[in-house]
Amino acid sequence: MSSIQTMTLVKPDDWHLHVRDGEVLKDVLGHTASQFGRAVIMPNLKPPVTTVALAKAYQSRIESQLHVLGKSDFKPLMTLYLTDNTPASEVQQAHAEHMIGFKLYPAGATTNSDAGVTNLRNCYKALEAMQKLGMPLLIHGEVTNPEIDVFDREAVFIDRILEPLRNDFPELRIVFEHITTKQAAHYVRDAHTQDKKLIAATITAHHLLMNRNSIFAGGIRPHHYCLPILKREEHRLALLEAATSGSARFFLGTDSAPHSKGLKENDCGCAGCYTAWNALGLYAEAFESIDCLNRLEGFASFFGADFYGLPRNSQKIVLVKKPHSVPSELPMGKDVLVPLRAGQTIAWGLQ
Ligand code: DOR
Ligand code: ZN
Repeated sequence: MSSIQTMTLVKPDDWHLHVRDGEVLKDVLGHTASQFGRAVIMPNLKPPVTTVALAKAYQSRIESQLHVLGKSDFKPLMTLYLTDNTPASEVQQAHAEHMIGFKLYPAGATTNSDAGVTNLRNCYKALEAMQKLGMPLLIHGEVTNPEIDVFDREAVFIDRILEPLRNDFPELRIVFEHITTKQAAHYVRDAHTQDKKLIAATITAHHLLMNRNSIFAGGIRPHHYCLPILKREEHRLALLEAATSGSARFFLGTDSAPHSKGLKENDCGCAGCYTAWNALGLYAEAFESIDCLNRLEGFASFFGADFYGLPRNSQKIVLVKKPHSVPSELPMGKDVLVPLRAGQTIAWGLQ
């Protein structure tokens, strides 16, 4: 263990975040906006954000809430939800309007993915336009075939979908989101590309800190259920190695996903971990566990901005090592949500 007690970092960004909509926005946005400069906002609303018009309207609702919270310096970066019917013209418009990317949800893979892509062949016109414009494709990388074991869905996705996609679109810019396996970490690490900014991956704090035993520790733990599901320890260690390697292909994306307590503690509970409360503290714990706190700033504050071609933030933040208590519940609209580590502590947090 290192003996570092405080750390000053360039303000980080969250390159993968769910904030939902409506009255929930005011309850969750402040957690992210007090730690991060920007976040890539996921489009899996009901109905999904499939057009530039919908994304701009969603962005305005987020910005209004940020204004109310006094956090107008925080910048939401908007994504569109790719469907079987996304026309190339929507991609062109999204690019012109500075949308950050398109999100690929294989139909049925996760929360609100029913409108997702049934067959990537249906998207080839849109993908051609994205490749031409340098517009990133953000990928939820899991196959959904019922015969494929839930723990194998990401690894099988690489062979069946991602590799053929990269062969057909060698210049397409790809972010493999919330990777969870050794196979994904090694695939991204070893991908041969001329251009360094063609492929990258985000990694969540919960996949760095927990393996699949955490879903069943002493009983079933619905708040540790997320998608892609937690994997074996060897995979956690491979993710930790990738995140702390100093490779610019790996950067921070929390995938913080608020669901009400009732929808998590349910006979058919929703997938998602709410880490936004003290996401940076969780990442610092993970990096410190293998004595790599010196690699946190690149992962959290530099590499994502560099990949997306955005300026790095200029402000600084200070992280302090001391037990930070996590509330047992947080408000969520008319409901409550249970954050990761509820009722416990996180070893690091903002000063
Ligand atoms: O655990 C997850 N929750 N994984 C996802 O891919 C979606 C997210 C959500 O929106 O709740
Ligand atoms: Zn997500």
